Amino acid sequence: MKDPILNHLSPAYPWKEQFHFFPTIDSTNDHLRALAKAGAPHGTVIIADRQTAGHGRRGRSFHSPEGMGVYLSILLRPNCTPTALMHLTCAVAVAMCDAVEASAGFRPGIKWTNDLVSGTRKLGGILTELGFTPQGKLDYAIIGAGINCCQQLNHFPEEIRDMAGSLSMIAGQTIDRAKVAAAMMEALHKMDARLLTEKSEILAQYKSDCITLHRDVVLVRGEEKCYGHAIDIDPEGALVVRFADGQTEAVNSGEVSVRGMYGYV
Ligand code: BTN
Repeated sequence: MKDPILNHLSPAYPWKEQFHFFPTIDSTNDHLRALAKAGAPHGTVIIADRQTAGHGRRGRSFHSPEGMGVYLSILLRPNCTPTALMHLTCAVAVAMCDAVEASAGFRPGIKWTNDLVSGTRKLGGILTELGFTPQGKLDYAIIGAGINCCQQLNHFPEEIRDMAGSLSMIAGQTIDRAKVAAAMMEALHKMDARLLTEKSEILAQYKSDCITLHRDVVLVRGEEKCYGHAIDIDPEGALVVRFADGQTEAVNSGEVSVRGMYGYV
């Protein structure tokens, strides 16, 4: 699939020489972390046709069968402090909505923080991680994104069949994975160019795409569940929730997972 992806990229795309394609890999994020530690440059991209150990946050696996999705990781080396990147996952989510819109003809929603959704179905997810120098300075960011492109319901394992979906299921037509992959690469390049200078515009778009906002939500912290209403996203990408007693709290995606009142969305 490497050549079809290259054919879809614009002549101005600057990171073609740093693009690596693997028929099979354990996890594009894990492999890119090793390359990052060995000094790989800003803009290095890995795409795999299949992952044997694709994963999301909290050790959850990301089903990554051959020929069905795009599994991509990109390495950035932003010149800033880690706190200047609190909105990174939100910026990536907006970029992935842009990419789907450009390549599949519809704009998905974002379930806070990092899931691409349509209706009640999850179409993809994002996993970002930061790496640090021995002196504690930001060394790199790895951004991983997986998007289900070609699956029909029976392709998904039974345990996720109720909540998983693909671009093809939503668009009602065949999806060209190379076109989606190239659109993801282009959107991430554009995101990198505005990441530190257009933070408020990026967050405004995130709020417009986020389907969690203005809904009743369940916050899950370990065994504990709290019920509230999502009233805002703060400048750092935290979800601001109002509880029945009128108190509000900005919750961080590292601490809680959020569900709708009646299921995953
Ligand atoms: C999630 O659903 O919580 C995030 C899933 C992220 C999956 C992508 S696929 C490419 C990259 N490699 C991985 O192992 N994970 C990310």
